[in-house]
Amino acid sequence: MCGIIGYTGGGSQTPDGGDVLDVLMTGLSGLEYRGYDSAGVALANSSISVHKRQGEVSALEEALPDGSVDGYAGIGHTRWSTHGPPSDANAHPHTDCSGTVAVVHNGIIENYQVLREELETAGHTFESETDTEVIPHLIEDALEAGADRESAFRRAVNRLEGSYAVAAVFCESETVYAARHESPLVLGIGEDGHYLASDVPAFIEYTDRVIYLDDGEFATVSPSGVVVTDERGTVVETSIETIEWDPEDAGKSGYDHYMLKEIHEQPQAIRKCLRERVNEMAGTITVDDLADLESSGPVQFVACGTSYHAALYGAQMLRKRGISAQCFLASEYDADSIPVGEETLVVGVTQSGETADTMSALRGANRVGATTVALTNVVGSSAARECDHAMYIRAGPEIGVAATKTFATQQVALALFSSVLSGESSQAFVEALRDLPDQVQSVLDNSTAREVARAYEDADAYFFIGRGYNAPVALEGALKMKEITYKHAEGFAAGELKHGPLALVTERTPVFAMVSDDETAAKTLGNVKEVEARDAPVVAITDSRETVERYADFVLEVPETHPALMPILANVQLQLVAYWVANRLGRSIDKPRNLAKSVTVE
Ligand code: G6P
Repeated sequence: MCGIIGYTGGGSQTPDGGDVLDVLMTGLSGLEYRGYDSAGVALANSSISVHKRQGEVSALEEALPDGSVDGYAGIGHTRWSTHGPPSDANAHPHTDCSGTVAVVHNGIIENYQVLREELETAGHTFESETDTEVIPHLIEDALEAGADRESAFRRAVNRLEGSYAVAAVFCESETVYAARHESPLVLGIGEDGHYLASDVPAFIEYTDRVIYLDDGEFATVSPSGVVVTDERGTVVETSIETIEWDPEDAGKSGYDHYMLKEIHEQPQAIRKCLRERVNEMAGTITVDDLADLESSGPVQFVACGTSYHAALYGAQMLRKRGISAQCFLASEYDADSIPVGEETLVVGVTQSGETADTMSALRGANRVGATTVALTNVVGSSAARECDHAMYIRAGPEIGVAATKTFATQQVALALFSSVLSGESSQAFVEALRDLPDQVQSVLDNSTAREVARAYEDADAYFFIGRGYNAPVALEGALKMKEITYKHAEGFAAGELKHGPLALVTERTPVFAMVSDDETAAKTLGNVKEVEARDAPVVAITDSRETVERYADFVLEVPETHPALMPILANVQLQLVAYWVANRLGRSIDKPRNLAKSVTVE
């Protein structure tokens, strides 16, 4: 949902000999997953130079003037439109009338109409349709009224209602000013320069030392250091954390797409998620992140998109272990109108830890006194900081917009979570978890998903069915197919197909059926026969080839495992099918149209 970057190094040369522009462009590439419909940079010098373009960061790169664009400090932005369509004019940064200040912003200014009318009446002219543009004009007004740069920035920000991570540079200044409220912002502390960004991948190449800003905080980032203050201007003590990612993790490592790389990273990601949490000798599962968690009440999950599918899986795991658990789409969760209180454990499943809908649900749960847990990938994220407990899924950086390894590790983490909460784990389950990374590897090594993609790339629509533990994965398989192929796809609990969607099934609608060798097999097989009888092609994803082979046009095999872990293996096959269909159709796999990885608006 828009990415912002800022840098100051006290001179135009950066530590690695590049210039400020290099840092900004590198930063924008690392943030493109947050939005990619336009991009821009502003460099502060004796004047401010702004360069911006509709399209991806590569379009901006091409539009930059030849030769170096110098500056002492700079800011950059990659956009996911909310106010005004993608265009050069609506791209950030935005400036004031006199070109003294440039601003980038992530979030939504809810009172921008009122502010804009007030500023226009006072004589300001606007160049864009964005909500953001009110900020430089408010700063300009404050400067004209005699405020210094820092107070002008602070005064402008204090007039904003809504959500924002905002950064500004002024001409003839080496300082970048920033503030956050309900949109992420992290500072990077380098040897010879300092950074700020929506997320760490923007500057991980330069430094791994970071300070996470809290809501309501301001930062003054200058070559000599950073100062963080609260809403009243009082200096806040901060602590520097060290990020454990290797910059290499954020590259493509020879794969054509981040998504394919991240699909292949799943064995390693699952290993990391399990490390020191599963004791094979004792047959026990412990999660240090949850050491202080005490809960005996009902559990409510709140989540969006892929994370919601993981939550559905987690809720099933808990219910099978005797714990009452419900799942809510975070955008539909209203803590004031449902039974939730101090006895409830509310778990936000969110890989980014920043999704606005999920944060709003978690804040509602906090307000009514529930105990909250963030199940997330991002240490220091809003969810991790605002919840009472945080359990990390340890997937490492995921750049492809379509979630893959974060989904797998969410499922694994939820399997562990359900064991911890229920106190129930068997030797067989622990051993199945131990074997899971190698089994995922064997699916990756032996998958024939590419053939299936070739056979059905022209289909009119795709259906996905699964029962029990495999039902959430049917939904996820369809979501992945929609997101990256732009084709119609629907997922159903297998039993539901006959209650309506069967009317859509024809010989041009392949049906992907998860058939697990457990008590659900016979019924799911019945559903497979129903679609086969309507001449629909059937692709079976199964750990029991002989059960289903007769009815299937293709079989995508997975190794035998504990029934609760089969969907993790089955999903890898579905990820690969979606990837290869999208690849054959020439889609923009890592940056699908209209989507963004971290959605920080409600
Ligand atoms: C966006 C992404 C999805 C993701 C969802 C929830 O819609 O495009 O891939 O599943 O947000 O994100 P979260 O960070 O909360 O898991």
